[in-house]
Amino acid sequence: MTVRLSVIGTGYLGATHAACMAELGFDVIGLDVVPEKVELLNSGKVPFYEPELDEVLERNIKAGRLRFTTSFQEAAEFGDVHFICVGTPQQSGSYAADMSQVFGSVRSLAPHLKSGDLVVGKSTVPVGTATQIAHELSQSAPGVDIAWNPEFLREGFAVEDTLNPDRLVIGVRSHEGEAKLREVYAPLIAKDIPFLVTDFPTAELVKVAANSFLATKISFINAMAEVCEAAGADVVQLAEAIGYDTRIGNRFLAAGLGFGGGCLPKDIRAFMARAGELGAEEALTFLREVDQINLRRRSHTVDLVTKELGASVRDKNICVLGATFKPDSDDVRDSPSLDVAVALANAGANVIVHDPKGTVNAERVYPTMKYSTDVAAAAVDADLILHGTEWAEYREIDPAELGKIVRTKNVIDARNKLDVKLWRDAGWNIRALGRPTA
Ligand code: UDX
Repeated sequence: MTVRLSVIGTGYLGATHAACMAELGFDVIGLDVVPEKVELLNSGKVPFYEPELDEVLERNIKAGRLRFTTSFQEAAEFGDVHFICVGTPQQSGSYAADMSQVFGSVRSLAPHLKSGDLVVGKSTVPVGTATQIAHELSQSAPGVDIAWNPEFLREGFAVEDTLNPDRLVIGVRSHEGEAKLREVYAPLIAKDIPFLVTDFPTAELVKVAANSFLATKISFINAMAEVCEAAGADVVQLAEAIGYDTRIGNRFLAAGLGFGGGCLPKDIRAFMARAGELGAEEALTFLREVDQINLRRRSHTVDLVTKELGASVRDKNICVLGATFKPDSDDVRDSPSLDVAVALANAGANVIVHDPKGTVNAERVYPTMKYSTDVAAAAVDADLILHGTEWAEYREIDPAELGKIVRTKNVIDARNKLDVKLWRDAGWNIRALGRPTA
């Protein structure tokens, strides 16, 4: 491979992109400003949990195709194509995205870039960012081109989604930029993965539009769950029935505690904020409702727990199954389950949160909460079990066995993944969100 790559930022997106590009045969250098992360990555270890990533990383470091640095100069001088994969979190006190890492990394790279280099944005950004960066680079790094190439990977499937994406989207302003990205993605294009070439704003918008659609789908079915509860209907059956219509499809129709994580919640908010700046806020007022429906799932679950335990949760023992925002991840950012656990603890309950992978991260954010990595230990003397994240192992729990160690056989399935009949037959009082009570 002739093109050499640098990848700026080694979070879920950057670390995966760097390792997977090396897997495709490129020489890659990854950069992070946190020396401990760089050291860990250089020793072949992933600083977070992501299935399959550790093997890909280790294999490519050993093969000499991949290494990591903290030096922008080293990264800029090594690569011809530089992928920007840093975070764009929600600004505190605002819906808008905090763009300091994106502009900071471009500004750190700029003095060391070579004429002919290509900077490729992958971070999720407000529309207009690529044009702004292009303008900056035209002053600070003449002869450097820019492209936008949004990333759609899901945590838990990051390697699979990077090596076998549903589509590739590139926003470009030159034939050279397009040609270079065609070279980078040649192994994927050869597998007939759709490759869409657009302008900058379209590429930027594709990402937020896709995430808004997914968030809307989840909030739609959760709105139906609210109506089902009021009408005594079953949202799981309803979702299955509408999902057979191929125009609707059955994916992303799982009603429950709603969406969380480092992407969907902040992306729809940043999208609303940006639309407002552009004078198009009316177009996205529905996203405010999507956000509200989603947040209501959490307060509704707290209310349900409180109701099931009498009028108050004070001094009640509650075991919360799941700390992460979804299974097969150790990410607790904006986790619905953890949010509910914290609300219950704040209301005076004795809460123990179980998670197979997420307790270390959860403890960093909420150090006063009690955690366990053993379901039985977490459930001893519980007055109620709350199923908040749908890890596969929770479906393997034997309700008869668990029933022997709890104080009261109360369970709330906030993810609609437990076998209601099995739990009921074992003598449990089970409530599932959006499903009939008995
Ligand atoms: C998401 C997008 O899927 C991905 O394309 C984008 O690049 C980043 O944001 P991710 O945050 O990894 O990926 O999680 P995802 O699998 O989309 O789930 C998001 C949240 O929605 C989770 O909290 C999940 O539990 C919830 N969810 C998902 C539901 O509540 N119901 C569903 O039917 C599906």
